[in-house]
Amino acid sequence: MSGLRFKEVKKAREAKRRALGSIAQARQHDLLPAEPRQRKPGVTSLFPELAELLPPDTMLFIQKSTPPSVYGISVVQEGSTTIRKGRDEAGRLMIIKQTALTFDSGGRVREREILERFCREVRVLYHTGVLYNDNIVDIVGTKWDALDAGQLLTIFLEYADFGNLAEFQSTHNEITWSQKKKLCLDVAAGLSMLHDCGIFHGDLKPENVLIFCGPTLAWDDEWDEEDGFCAKLCDFGSSHFGIWNLWGEDVTLYGATPPFTAPEYDFRNQGRLPLCLLSPFDIYVFGMLVWRIALGAKTPLGISELSNERLHGDSEIRWLQDLKRFPDDRFLQLATKTLSSVPINGRLFYERILKSTLRFKVADRASTIKKMLHLLDGGEDESLPIIAMDYPR
Ligand SMILES: Nc1ncnc2c1ncn2[C@@H]1O[C@H](COP(=O)(O)OP(=O)(O)O)[C@@H](O)[C@H]1O
Ligand SMILES: [Mg+2]
Repeated sequence: MSGLRFKEVKKAREAKRRALGSIAQARQHDLLPAEPRQRKPGVTSLFPELAELLPPDTMLFIQKSTPPSVYGISVVQEGSTTIRKGRDEAGRLMIIKQTALTFDSGGRVREREILERFCREVRVLYHTGVLYNDNIVDIVGTKWDALDAGQLLTIFLEYADFGNLAEFQSTHNEITWSQKKKLCLDVAAGLSMLHDCGIFHGDLKPENVLIFCGPTLAWDDEWDEEDGFCAKLCDFGSSHFGIWNLWGEDVTLYGATPPFTAPEYDFRNQGRLPLCLLSPFDIYVFGMLVWRIALGAKTPLGISELSNERLHGDSEIRWLQDLKRFPDDRFLQLATKTLSSVPINGRLFYERILKSTLRFKVADRASTIKKMLHLLDGGEDESLPIIAMDYPR
């Protein structure tokens, strides 16, 4: 990345912090029980379900959002949600995530699940902790357009220079060990903040990690151009809000994608898990991501040669999933074995993470991502884990 691009990134970060400062002030003012305010008409009245699905805090951000005008639009991905790429008036690249909804004769949204995904994403992206974090993709605005028989919902996001982690790995297989380490720490920093805010991602995988130019202020006081990549989490359509240490009710993991799942995930059970297992689930999958970063672009994980049969694609994934369910942590042993060619300093770093994440028993995993970061920072192994919580059978 050129020095010029780096300066741009730094300037954008400073502008974001200034803007957030004024939003925080405006928000405090708005949330005070002062005289009744005049709300912008539209969003809630067009969309009664929004008030059901989104807290007032998020609604406030939506009301205040001024969507950018975007031109030169091209399609990145099509589906129930379409991802497009364009430029705003200042020429900045931007991602446009759009979902169309239709209404039934009673005026209710037909595609309830899609609407819920959209609302979970907006709720996370407008969360104050998330807005201030440098390892979660930035939301630039939202837009709500009436269609003939429905609504078009739009989220504008900052554009990731190198696409998702899977794409990045296929074009940058030769990145250095310190660059890989930084990507692992970036993901950990984003995830740790989410968990601190009581948010669980629920669908961590290489396609939901975006790679940008530039440093993350969270880790780099002294930035070196050599380390010029930064990872940020995206796609919060499968996320959950909850309190990590209460059993709570069961929740459904809508988007978890094998092999980026923990052993307790069972798709035959529609991916249902007690709320308290969401944090250990994310922690396990973080280990899977770190393993993938360590191995590079092998697809899906390039470990067929370690099994007795020749495995490809789905059969490799099934084999991995079965291996995870052995209580003797056979999966961890396999993952560690694949690191034998990694230089020693890197191997120790990865092994420490894998040992405190890829464990069959929840009690053997790090209790929090923060604990793990402490461990990576030279803290003692013995302090882990601090909670004893058995996986229920
Ligand atoms: N901000 C972004 N910058 C660049 N590419 C993005 C961005 N957001 C999404 N994408 C691309 O679109 C893909 C799908 O986006 P995502 O938010 O994960 O939606 P979905 O819910 O369809 O999985 C990502 O894997 C990535 O390749
Ligand atoms: Mg995704």
